[in-house]
Amino acid sequence: MKYITIGDVRLERTAVLAPLASVADYAFRSMCRRFGAAAVTSEMVSAKGVCYGDRKSDALMTVTEGERPMAVQLFGSEPEFMAKAAVLAAAHKPDFIDINCGCPVNKVVSTGAGAALMKDIDLLGRIVKAVSTAVDIPVTVKIRRGWSLSSENAVEAALCAEANGACAITVHARTKEQLYSGKADLDTIARVKRAVKIPVIGNGDIDCAYAAEDMYNKTGCDLVMIGRAACGKPWIFEQVRHYLDTGEILPDPPKERQLEIMTEHIELLVKDKGEYIGMKEARKHTAWYLKGMKNAAEYRRRCGALSTLSDYYELLELVKKENL
Ligand SMILES: Cc1cc2nc3c(=O)[nH]c(=O)nc-3n(C[C@H](O)[C@H](O)[C@H](O)COP(=O)(O)O)c2cc1C
Repeated sequence: MKYITIGDVRLERTAVLAPLASVADYAFRSMCRRFGAAAVTSEMVSAKGVCYGDRKSDALMTVTEGERPMAVQLFGSEPEFMAKAAVLAAAHKPDFIDINCGCPVNKVVSTGAGAALMKDIDLLGRIVKAVSTAVDIPVTVKIRRGWSLSSENAVEAALCAEANGACAITVHARTKEQLYSGKADLDTIARVKRAVKIPVIGNGDIDCAYAAEDMYNKTGCDLVMIGRAACGKPWIFEQVRHYLDTGEILPDPPKERQLEIMTEHIELLVKDKGEYIGMKEARKHTAWYLKGMKNAAEYRRRCGALSTLSDYYELLELVKKENL
């Protein structure tokens, strides 16, 4: 097993879970850690929300021992708010604070936060400086390839973050304008890696162990990050780790085991958030787990109507009957 160090935190050089708003909550992060994700990140948290005492924002920053190493990710566009929020986030004792410079959602970029920071590198630098001065835990920064293809500036953004105190950079190698379309550009990650001295985490489109290895080989990055491909498939982290360790591909678990994993996940979700909210959120997760099973289209429809745990167990019995 190889390791890398970010700040003073040692991480296995396998794959980390990406921050995924409305997806990567406590239950999902715990499942991914259990399958060997080298680290996890909270859903993005509004710095202003934190500073104004918003209870939901505060809850998003909760870190439990089983999830470590874990980053809390903040978004915002004002250095003072970001610094104050970072101090409040640090009270939850995360291993890192991550700064979101990549979110393309209008509600976020219209306030100058997220990917809008790729258009204002000076402000990005001031935010990184304010946050890294305010807290004594490692600060990491997640950027995109740029705002648009005609204004690619990932290297400039990474150098600026490094100069202002960042301990690592994650590069989602798409522009803001690309959103999630097209392909992540591995060359961007390679160029950032050559430019900075701090660790670089490559991100975008890793959907299997080969793709993780490919990103390591083609970019020289220090770590890779997986987002969407972990949805309904938290065992991808075990597959990446196993492949990097042994060169052998670990197949997906048998369907019966996949259903057990799904059930563990949904039960954890309901335990954490209660049945009402938990089951609403379980809808997308169950649909992801059941993708690819026989009659998946029908299951997807039923997942959309899940309201109670007993609805879930009923669906589970049907899936077992038709698939095992
Ligand atoms: C549903 C969803 C929510 C996301 N939320 C966040 C977020 O809160 N913060 C962030 O930096 N990136 C967020 N992202 C971007 C991912 O972290 C990641 O950069 C992107 O999905 C590319 O990686 P992938 O191809 O492995 O999914 C989100 C992506 C998706 C699909």
